[in-house]
Amino acid sequence: MNNALPFEDLEAGRARVAVSFGGQDLHLPEGANLAAALLGAGITTFRHTPASGAPRGPFCMMGACFDCLVEVDGVTRQACMMEVSDGLVLDMPQAGER
Ligand code: FES
Repeated sequence: MNNALPFEDLEAGRARVAVSFGGQDLHLPEGANLAAALLGAGITTFRHTPASGAPRGPFCMMGACFDCLVEVDGVTRQACMMEVSDGLVLDMPQAGER
């Protein structure tokens, strides 16, 4: 996958599965770290802060900063603590959620 981001696709040989993020259809490597796979697909804003609306994306990649929160099938979760699986429906958390 080519993009202007400094993320190298280390999962090039892995099977791709269908995932959507905010209505955008993506094909991500099955079993890969979800946050890394989204970054590799060019998605850098995972949510906006409730106070200022500032964009946030993965920072620590180890479950500490909570900047990678996404809504997964209606539940707010840390993307860096999940793996890509077929049919995931992802979105940005709604305002008022962390
Ligand atoms: S990137 Fe920090 S908790 Fe996920």
